[in-house]
Amino acid sequence: MSASKTDHPHPSPALLEKLSVREKIVIANWKMNGSAEANRLWAEEFLAKLGDLNCRTAVCAPFVYLSELVRLFKDTGVAVGAQTVSPRDQGAFTGEVSAAMLADIGMSLCLVGHSERRLVAHGIAPVVCVGETLAEREAGLTEAVVLRQLRTVLTRVPVAKLGAVAYEPVWAIGTGRTATPQAAQHVHAALRACLTEADAEAAAKTPLLYGGSVKPDNAHELFSQPDIDGGLIGGAALKAEDFHSVCAAARVD
Ligand code: PGA
Repeated sequence: MSASKTDHPHPSPALLEKLSVREKIVIANWKMNGSAEANRLWAEEFLAKLGDLNCRTAVCAPFVYLSELVRLFKDTGVAVGAQTVSPRDQGAFTGEVSAAMLADIGMSLCLVGHSERRLVAHGIAPVVCVGETLAEREAGLTEAVVLRQLRTVLTRVPVAKLGAVAYEPVWAIGTGRTATPQAAQHVHAALRACLTEADAEAAAKTPLLYGGSVKPDNAHELFSQPDIDGGLIGGAALKAEDFHSVCAAARVD
């Protein structure tokens, strides 16, 4: 039994292709939440108001719900992605899911803590998460840490193949503490400069997302920063209404 890429009849849209930097992207990261019924209701509620939005959207959900979400979001423009992927291709790795398997069921993106070439090979855009701990921030190491993380990824994946880079300060994830828009912009500018050094043309098209306690009431100011191209949303993506409000804040003024 081996996973091989087949042409999925209903592929999730290639959210991250041909990005114009004027477009914002907001990705829901449901983490280990949801149920078949709750997801169906979420999709129904979100899709009912999708027309109000002018940003690109995606939902990253637990593996078991991905196929059903691809079906629910078919032809709507809402992309579906996984939250993680095995760095291995196939084999005796109990409980693991490969990039080929994700591509096989129509995934177009996947969140990854560290990126692997094979993700790119299977046409799945990696959304690479970087971020410093509170101790690192307090030691003044934020920029050094995130740049080291990004450079490690760039030794394996060219800028042009990155789906997005998400700056997620560890101390802000799920804590209700958010980086100030200015502090986040500062880090995003450093990330952009690092990408530009490697490939200026591709860097200009690579979305830089902010994640970490983004809510409807702080999203607009964060998303208005010049190098913040959207967000990766955890807690506020669990209710369709809140996620819609965050997406609406991603408008380009
Ligand atoms: P949060 O999670 O919005 O709940 O802080 C963000 C994330 O972990 O992607």
